[in-house]
Order: sequence, then C-alpha cells, then structure tokens
Amino acid sequence: MEVFLKSSKIPIKFKIKRIPRLLVMLYLCKKHSMGKPVFLIGYMGSGKSTNGRKLARIIGYFHFDLDEEIEKLVGKNINQIFSEEGEDAFRLLEHSVLVSLTNRKNIVVSTGGGTPCYYNNLQLMKDVGVIVYIKMKPESLAKRLQSSKVKRPILVRAQAGDLSAFIAKHLAQREDFYKQAHLTIKGENLDFDILLNSVKEYL
Ligand code: S3P
Repeated sequence: MEVFLKSSKIPIKFKIKRIPRLLVMLYLCKKHSMGKPVFLIGYMGSGKSTNGRKLARIIGYFHFDLDEEIEKLVGKNINQIFSEEGEDAFRLLEHSVLVSLTNRKNIVVSTGGGTPCYYNNLQLMKDVGVIVYIKMKPESLAKRLQSSKVKRPILVRAQAGDLSAFIAKHLAQREDFYKQAHLTIKGENLDFDILLNSVKEYL
C-alpha cells in the first residue's frame, strides 16, 4: 500500500528513501540515547535489583544483575561460590564481571552490596557511568533481609546475633564507599519518579 503526504502527491516511501543515512543514524542514536551505564549500589536488601530492572525497562536500557552474571559464568549460585571457592575468589569474579560491563553503553547494572568496596570497582564505575546509592537505615534493611527468601552468605555469620546491630556496624564500614555515588536516593518507600528523573539528568 502506498501512503501519500497531505501536502503533496509524493509517496512517503519515496521520501524516506531520500533521507540521508547519517540522519537516520543520528535519529537512532538519539532514540537509544547512547547513554552512560547506570550503576545501582547499596547494602544487601536495599532494592538494587528490583529498581534496576524497572529503571532499565523505562529508559530503554538493558539490565544486568552482577550476581546473576557471576552465577551464569561460574555455573554455581552465590552461596556455593562463597562456600566452595571462598570470598576472595568471589570478589575477583565480581571485579572481572564488572570490568567486562564497563565498556558497554545503555545498561543499568544492579551491583552486589560489596561491589564498590573491593578492588578499584568504585573508581571504574565512576569513570564511565552514573552511580546511584540506594540508602536505607539498618533497621529497615534488617526487616527486609529477615523476610527475604535469598540467604546472603555474609549474613549467615550474623544470624545468631542481632542482625540490625551487625548491619549497623557493617554499613558504617561500607558507607564511605557508598557516599561517593553521584546520586543518593532514600530506599524506604522509594519514590521511583525521583530516581528516574535524577538519573535522566546525568545521562
Ligand atoms: C554481598 C551482597 C550480595 C552478593 C554477595 C555479597 C555483599 O548481593 O553479591 O552475597 O558483600 O554485600 P546483594 O547486595 O544483591 O544481596
């Protein structure tokens, strides 16, 4: 079927053929915004995966969950990697997978709670992308983590004691890294529009 522009009798099909290739490329680049990668950081249970997935869907980026990528690469789940290979091996894997993602555009990466605190991971993310810290209070995190189906190896040690106290201490050690993010968003009753609009300003 041939469509005609209102103002002329020239078929659109013909007109489109004449649009220079560069213009098409520019349009596609704009549409897909060729944007910087976005990294979500924060303590375990702060909502990095859920919000990362949603953010990627809305801004039209691909989503990667760092833990899932590690699991796919090794063919073991995070708990198995910790128990069979040890934390040091996990941190090395985490670093390598992160490095492999840093040269990609149009992606949202949900990192693990410890990612920015090891190797030069924080600097790597800073150099290429936008870092968003989802900040939550230890008590809120403890509540979420207590009811979470995913059992985190780091927290197994704390299970016997007071989880909230463990998180408060652990979070205080990590906060120096988290605080270096470009953006900080409150994780309790997270306002997704604030997250979305703040991130958009950095892309
Ligand atoms: C870890 C957080 C976990 C996972 C691993 C270690 C951490 O990811 O990477 O168990 O050191 O805080 P989540 O933050 O997605 O739970």
